[in-house]
Amino acid sequence: VENVSVGLLGLGTVGSGVVRMVEGHQEELLHRVGCPVYIEKVLVQNLEKERACVIKPELLTSSAEDVVNHPDIDVVIEVIGGIEQAREYILQALNNKKHVITANKDLMALHGAELLSTAEKNGCDLFYEASVAGGIPIIRTLVDGLASDRITKMMGIVNGTTNYILTKMDKQNLTFEEVLKEAQELGYAESDPTSDVEGIDAARKMAILASLGFSMNIHLDDVEVKGISNITSEDLEYARQFGYSMKLIGNARKDGGKVEVSVEPTLLPDTHPLASVQNENNAVYIYGEAVGETMFFGPGAGQLPTATSIVSDLVAVVRNMRLGVNGKSVVAPQFEKQLKQAEE
Ligand code: NDP
Ligand code: HSE
Repeated sequence: VENVSVGLLGLGTVGSGVVRMVEGHQEELLHRVGCPVYIEKVLVQNLEKERACVIKPELLTSSAEDVVNHPDIDVVIEVIGGIEQAREYILQALNNKKHVITANKDLMALHGAELLSTAEKNGCDLFYEASVAGGIPIIRTLVDGLASDRITKMMGIVNGTTNYILTKMDKQNLTFEEVLKEAQELGYAESDPTSDVEGIDAARKMAILASLGFSMNIHLDDVEVKGISNITSEDLEYARQFGYSMKLIGNARKDGGKVEVSVEPTLLPDTHPLASVQNENNAVYIYGEAVGETMFFGPGAGQLPTATSIVSDLVAVVRNMRLGVNGKSVVAPQFEKQLKQAEE
């Protein structure tokens, strides 16, 4: 492998971060993977849009074919969001023997099994670190770092937008609508923020984490969900007077064969480690029978933190390319089960 060519689907908050990182970290990338990595083509919806991200105009295209069928592109990064279009482009890319990286939890929570098995059949990598908890390498932690342990409990703040809203409503006495608008302007919220504020985005992430942590197929429908749209500044003020903070908490517990996964607004005493997680930050607590208690903290949304996870996935793909081992490590056990169930 002498150099690696990347096709990017999407140039919004996250896609712009990927361009900034790939272009701005050339030296680090060369050092980590041993060959140059460059962006060959970028899919956008609107070619006329003014963009904060500096990019050569000839790299832009409004045709996905120019990326997923491009003969020189080795790796496709999907950051357009949504489900059907993204699924179609990823399947096309994989069937064209291109490795794929995605930040799309909506898609992975719903079609992860199909996409991962297509990747495996084509000898391709499909990595999705950025789909949960933005800049925190939590998927790799579950798949690799804690792979030897029996995990029985996970608890976390896994949505940056709602944590930002709850923090600002509490500390700055702003209204829900005012802070949601800020979170959208900062690029933390989904294009339809209903999935953030109603807890669905967090539920998708908890389904992915529980599936990986417990090695079983946890579907979005298995997660009990309650969002924060009914929480008022008065509720937060009242909680504060008694030494509590309100957080949108994801919980996953495994007791023998029984698994419970939920997302709901929760009052935490100010002494609780998750109570001090502010703004768009996320944190995930994991309990493993052997390791005991572990906790992972960092930015859960935003341009460069999310791009860090994506470009680290890119490093992993290129290392695998250089070793000739792509597609060998992608199918986690729970997805195999999910796939078998789908085939039956
Ligand atoms: P944006 O809305 O900011 O960007 C979407 C980009 O995709 C835009 O460049 C848009 O084009 C392009 N696009 C959208 N639909 C199409 C289409 N059908 N065909 C061609 N281009 C299309 O989204 P984000 O960058 O915020 O999010 C992208 C993905 O990353 C989502 O899956 C999201 O859930 C995930 N994610 C986001 C995080 C964040 O902090 N924002 C964090 C972690 C994951 P144009 O520019 O022309 O409009
Ligand atoms: N909208 C998501 C959040 C983006 O706020 O957490 C990161 O997945």
